[in-house]
Amino acid sequence: MTHRFVSDKAARFTESVIREMTRQAMEHGAINLAQGFPDFEAPDEIVQAARRAIAEGVNQYAITWGAKSLRDAISRKAGRALGAAVDPETEITVCCGSTEAMIASLLAVLNAGDEVVVFEPYYENYGPDAILSGARPRFVKLRPPADPDGDWAFDERELRGAFGARTKAIILNTPNNPTGKVFTRDELGLVRDLCVEHDALAITDEIYEHILYDGREHVSIAALPGMRERTITINGMSKTYSVTGWRVGWAIAPPAVTDAIRKVHDFLTVGAPAPLQEAGAAALALPQEYYRRLAKGYVARRDRLLPVLRAAGFKAYVPRGAYYIMTDIDDFGFEDDVSFARHLVRDLGVAVVPGSSFYSDPADGSRQVRFAFCKRDATLDEAATRLRGLRPRTPGIPG
Ligand SMILES: Cc1ncc(COP(=O)(O)O)c(C=O)c1O
Repeated sequence: MTHRFVSDKAARFTESVIREMTRQAMEHGAINLAQGFPDFEAPDEIVQAARRAIAEGVNQYAITWGAKSLRDAISRKAGRALGAAVDPETEITVCCGSTEAMIASLLAVLNAGDEVVVFEPYYENYGPDAILSGARPRFVKLRPPADPDGDWAFDERELRGAFGARTKAIILNTPNNPTGKVFTRDELGLVRDLCVEHDALAITDEIYEHILYDGREHVSIAALPGMRERTITINGMSKTYSVTGWRVGWAIAPPAVTDAIRKVHDFLTVGAPAPLQEAGAAALALPQEYYRRLAKGYVARRDRLLPVLRAAGFKAYVPRGAYYIMTDIDDFGFEDDVSFARHLVRDLGVAVVPGSSFYSDPADGSRQVRFAFCKRDATLDEAATRLRGLRPRTPGIPG
């Protein structure tokens, strides 16, 4: 029912299911494999840098589009990755997490009625983001592989069909949450061709860029020929430095687009936390060895949880990047993903995210749930013990 004091926009989306599952995990004393935040400490040198910044008096607003030290650090790191200079004065906006960088970017570039192409399943924020910015999402399916050791894929014709006269942008997320897909250079080349052909922007969320497995390579679409001037690259500290609560992210875009993003950002939040931006500058200066260790730690966690899920009866798709495992729950015989997730959190004490929260049509995710594995070994082992209580209902075996 509509309410006089609730806007049409706010009425069109629900609360975040992911964050709701965290609240349910707390209520039921469950292991939280729902929300993607680490339960281990952030690197000590970054924590110390934040402490120092506060002690040294960095406690007032930073420049609205970001402290110079952090923008310079982003410019150096992103410049290396893109193989081209990124101007910290005109091309970078620091925001309150990549979450704000995404919504500020969409509000800055979209008009009512514009269409935005989105691969689904998608990180659930993109749905409300599109509604808030007045755009119309056009979804393109990422399909799971028949063999769960294979890769998720999209159909080229479907992607081509989603681009049209009203297309203003495509939202990409690689490495991908929730599927763990890492888009290949060829796939991004096709996206590039379509963006050029339809004069569209690529808005790319790359917050898992350093969390890669099995020799996969992260490709930034902004590095492909002709894409610098039509890409907004979004990134942040949350996942790479295990500081999801700090709320520091950024958008890199051509100067005219950056001008628009900076205006929207300023009036949304004024700025990201000033001392944590100083710590961000220290974090981005960490040696390459830090990123190698990060990926190594995550591949070990993935390889710890994956066999547990398979032994428990899930069809578990191998992620090639990010820190989630998408699973198929068909063999458990539950009515849908939500009733299954409810059973897991209440009766077994393990919180997961129902697959439907990653799809525009909830029915598409009704046989899937997502596990996050950015957790300590002890947490994953305790989840494994609890999951032994699950009983697959394979044909002929009652229960
Ligand atoms: C794809 C993706 N983008 C953005 C975010 C949020 O990032 P931040 O903490 O920088 O706002 C998440 C968090 O899970 C995510 O999975």
